[in-house]
Amino acid sequence: MHKQVLCGLLALAVLAAQAPVTDGAKILAVYVFPAKSHYMMHRVLISELLKHGHEVTMIAALTLEPEKMGANYTEILIEPVYDYRTEIRSTFGGKTIYDMRNELDVQVFLNLIRLLGLSTTEHALKQPKIQAIINAKETQGVYDLLLVEQFYQDAFSALAHVYNIPVISTATFAQQTFMSEMFGIIQPWSYVPHGYLPLTEHMSFFERVYNTYTSLRTDLDREFRYFPKMDALVQKYFGHLPIKFPSTSEMNRNLSAILINNYTPLAAAGPTTENMINVGGMHIYPPKALPSDIKQFLDEAEHGAIYFSLGSQVQSKDMPVEKLRLFLNVFAQLNQRVLWKFENDSLPDLPSNVMVKKWLPQSDILAHPNVRVFISHGGLFGSQEAVYHAVPVLGMPFFFDQHLNLKKAEYNGYAIMLDFHTLTSEQLKNSLQQLLHNNTYRDNIKRFSSIFHDRPMGPRETALYWIDYVIRHKGARHLRAAGLDLKWYQFYLLDVIALVVAAVAVALGVLVLLVRWILRRISGEQIKQKVN
Ligand SMILES: *[C@@H]1O[C@H](CO)[C@@H](O)[C@H](O)[C@H]1NC(C)=O
Ligand SMILES: *[C@@H]1O[C@H](CO)[C@@H](O)[C@H](O)[C@H]1NC(C)=O
Ligand SMILES: *[C@@H]1O[C@H](CO)[C@@H](O)[C@H](O)[C@H]1NC(C)=O
Ligand SMILES: *[C@@H]1O[C@H](CO)[C@@H](O)[C@H](O)[C@H]1NC(C)=O
Repeated sequence: MHKQVLCGLLALAVLAAQAPVTDGAKILAVYVFPAKSHYMMHRVLISELLKHGHEVTMIAALTLEPEKMGANYTEILIEPVYDYRTEIRSTFGGKTIYDMRNELDVQVFLNLIRLLGLSTTEHALKQPKIQAIINAKETQGVYDLLLVEQFYQDAFSALAHVYNIPVISTATFAQQTFMSEMFGIIQPWSYVPHGYLPLTEHMSFFERVYNTYTSLRTDLDREFRYFPKMDALVQKYFGHLPIKFPSTSEMNRNLSAILINNYTPLAAAGPTTENMINVGGMHIYPPKALPSDIKQFLDEAEHGAIYFSLGSQVQSKDMPVEKLRLFLNVFAQLNQRVLWKFENDSLPDLPSNVMVKKWLPQSDILAHPNVRVFISHGGLFGSQEAVYHAVPVLGMPFFFDQHLNLKKAEYNGYAIMLDFHTLTSEQLKNSLQQLLHNNTYRDNIKRFSSIFHDRPMGPRETALYWIDYVIRHKGARHLRAAGLDLKWYQFYLLDVIALVVAAVAVALGVLVLLVRWILRRISGEQIKQKVN
């Protein structure tokens, strides 16, 4: 026993000695999309970088002030916080997300993200505090790395040229089909679904048509409508500097690495490059003790408990009254207890087995052994927590990647998906009964959970490793696929194909001429013979 401990310690010491050291680097992070869910990843990354001994300056859409990040953290807060619900409302009409119906219309959706990206980007660039960073006198050796988010805010990559530093991006939304162009690979639309469609990697013919159309439409929209607008922002806010900025599309294809909020088996197998790094589950820490009232409520749930949350964008309190009644009626008939993230302090006529709270420590609750079903909107962070803690899911997607996440969960056999807008009491009751009493769902999610946990290095350690790596080598040009420097027709070998087609055409042409010539000669001979 002692020997084993000693050996373990020795191995650790050897490992520690081998791990290259990256001394306190200076990192500039630009996370200007003000969504709480995106910050679930940013917050963890920043706090881990600080714990790791780096200094971080963050241009922040949401403040981390309450979390006391310490002296090595400098926050440049964008004020006021941008209210992007205006864009959501103007795009979809209606007052809340519950009124939204056309979220799967490609053009509507592309317009929305373009609008969100452009407006939040310019809102930040306009701030005097950020102009001070753009126009700083001292720019060389000030920072070692730029962190940005992969969410339609590419103008900020220009800061990498101002400060002469490499860039690492984070994809809170996990993998998107347009990452093919960013990393010089081909992710076939035949089995890689567009990030915002209700598809899995197993598609029928018509689903492949739909996926191809949407993915192509997205690529064209980015190239011809989104990037030109971002270029205009770079010109407007950086154009006066004596630097020649590449186009935002080029800067987008020049990342040292991207940290992707995904991990197998939630991420599907497919083409990637070495600098596309999956760190999904990064936000999940070992469970902390629950507040005593919640702990008691769950401990005493002798038939088990159901946890219900629609995330931070979709608020349960805004749900139509008839749906609210439907949920409460069904819950009242259950033996299980229900813990509901509900944004009002109280709810009239609450059944005795239901508890509502404005905010709940979701991951710690899912870790409780009595929690047996998670009613969810299918957000990526929550989906990872469900798999991590092996809790089967009843999913009702609203928008963005929620359809995709839940489709995958349903395909994998640990979730049942329902349509919130057409939901009936029968459906809700039957689905909950299945998830509670049919072991298939729990067995499946346990299997997926054990795969999700099994990694060479934890997700936070992986993220830190790659950030240090890029800092150590001052970028990662060597991980950049040479295909990125080809023209699109060269990349897809259209020039080579054109040559082959031309050669075949010429050969066929020559053959036809030859045959005609021979035939003419033969028939000429025959005529001559007849005449003779
Ligand atoms: C702040 O960073 C410096 C190195 O840049 C380091 O020496 C110091 O320990 C850090 N302080 C804290 C509180 O982490
Ligand atoms: C790409 O990044 C390198 C540094 O890693 C930089 O020298 C180069 O100018 C960048 N090119 C573009 C097009 O952004
Ligand atoms: C939530 O609280 C607001 C304000 O107190 C109230 O107007 C609204 O009716 C409440 N919603 C529900 C579903 O109880
Ligand atoms: C349990 O769930 C599986 C998968 O949905 C289904 O095929 C099976 O019929 C269910 N069993 C019962 C007893 O309902």
